[in-house]
Amino acid sequence: MKISVKTGTPEQVGTDLFALPFSKSALKKEAEEALASLGFDVHVLKDFKGEAGEVVVLYAGGKKPAASRIALLGLGEGKTLDDWRKASVSLAAKAVEMKLEKVAIECSGIANLAVSTGKSVAELAAALVEGCVAGGYRFDRLKSGKLDKKKSAGKSKEISELVLRVDAGVLDEVEKGAAEGKVVASCQKMARDLVNLPGNYLQADDIAEAAVESGKKHGYDVTVFHKKEIESLGMGGLLAVNKGSFHPPTFTVLDYKPKGKARMVVALVGKGVTFDSGGISLKPSENMGEMKSDMSGAACVLGAVEAASRLGLPLHVIGLIPATDNMPSGTAQTPGDVITTYSGITVEVGNTDAEGRLILADALTYAKEKYKPDVIIDVATLTGACIVALGYAVAGLFSNNDKLADEIFQAGEHTGEKVWRMPLWDLYDEQIKSDVADVNNTGGRGAGSVTAAKFLEKFIDGHKNWAHIDIAGPSFAPKGGGKVNGGTGFGVSLLVELMKKWS
Ligand code: BES
Ligand code: ZN
Ligand code: ZN
Repeated sequence: MKISVKTGTPEQVGTDLFALPFSKSALKKEAEEALASLGFDVHVLKDFKGEAGEVVVLYAGGKKPAASRIALLGLGEGKTLDDWRKASVSLAAKAVEMKLEKVAIECSGIANLAVSTGKSVAELAAALVEGCVAGGYRFDRLKSGKLDKKKSAGKSKEISELVLRVDAGVLDEVEKGAAEGKVVASCQKMARDLVNLPGNYLQADDIAEAAVESGKKHGYDVTVFHKKEIESLGMGGLLAVNKGSFHPPTFTVLDYKPKGKARMVVALVGKGVTFDSGGISLKPSENMGEMKSDMSGAACVLGAVEAASRLGLPLHVIGLIPATDNMPSGTAQTPGDVITTYSGITVEVGNTDAEGRLILADALTYAKEKYKPDVIIDVATLTGACIVALGYAVAGLFSNNDKLADEIFQAGEHTGEKVWRMPLWDLYDEQIKSDVADVNNTGGRGAGSVTAAKFLEKFIDGHKNWAHIDIAGPSFAPKGGGKVNGGTGFGVSLLVELMKKWS
């Protein structure tokens, strides 16, 4: 999507749809005047309440309208970034539904709105762009007409251009925010695409390749460890999960270093299970296809590292992605097996479906040992129990550092990606004790997302600034849940916001 910021009149901007945002309180005062000046009938205002995300499309009746089609766009109270985001998501969704290619938004009120939301003009512009790209996102590349790239060229359903019409005084700030928003939005889109690709289109190798491509394009180093190297390293967790698979595992390390001195070393670890059948502890078949999304953590980390590089953040950011599928077969690991992880810690595999923690264990220890990071954050679709606890809209947050937990929570509040902190009390260790190994990978009934986090904690080798984000719920919108099903890109924006705060 091309994004431009212009100061001209609506006529000069010339779009398929010209959107006028109004908060509920501004509606009465400003809407009549605005509509009349554009040559539109004001009676329609009876049907428009200004609720956040409400969109009413109007067609010109007058002789010389400033735009052939306008949209009234509700901002609700207009007091939060969320209102602003909701509005832009619905506008883009409407434009896609109507197959409109060029959309403009009147942003003359953005300076006032910045005051009432307590955010900067640039932050509002960024949220607007992110919302428009997210709301206009559709995954249709596996439809028959699209598989042949040549045939489908130029026929995308998505919006091709977004124009923000502004007053000259805020032009620079809106341009700056829009440019940042565009980077985050494109990284989110990349993550969603990867999540939506099913197991027969995305294997461990493909995740590694996506990282290599991104690194080449955006100027950061990527190293891919293949099966032989993973064996030499002794990553017993990743190898055990991969035992039943036809496809070899990969361990991909993304390494972005800023031009100047780095203010911090940040390690981001993402679970990359390209398809989770459960292995020998096979999952029930109903909705098993959704387990193509079990690499959402990996996609999130890839998106966040790419964004850090494109934004030139003054941080050393390392992304670590262990990837494999989890399949049953004659060669698969079996319940009761005892494996030795990269750390040397032995694990009794109580359940082969608790595979995410096995591959993350190796990556966490490697991150700590090799990079001595100031902070380690892992992102993973780790447990169904987290969905039971917090639902589909909220991620579970676990951290051994109060300050870090608060920073992650605040970043999520800012980006609209909600996380809620859960405990890491040692009493939960009882549940993952093993009779035969150092630890068991399952904790029995109760507090499943906490025992999973307690398991991970054993592999950070006493690091004092670690967080684990369980995104099993919000990473994927199941069928029937909303307008657009599938990968959400959850976490990309949150991690970028967090890293910007540290910059
Ligand atoms: N990938 C799943 C967790 C998951 C469930 C993600 C639903 C998204 C939606 C994970 O590997 C898993 O299967 N966890 C088990 C752990 C159990 C066997 C201890 C679970 O949550 O049931
Ligand atoms: Zn599993
Ligand atoms: Zn899994």
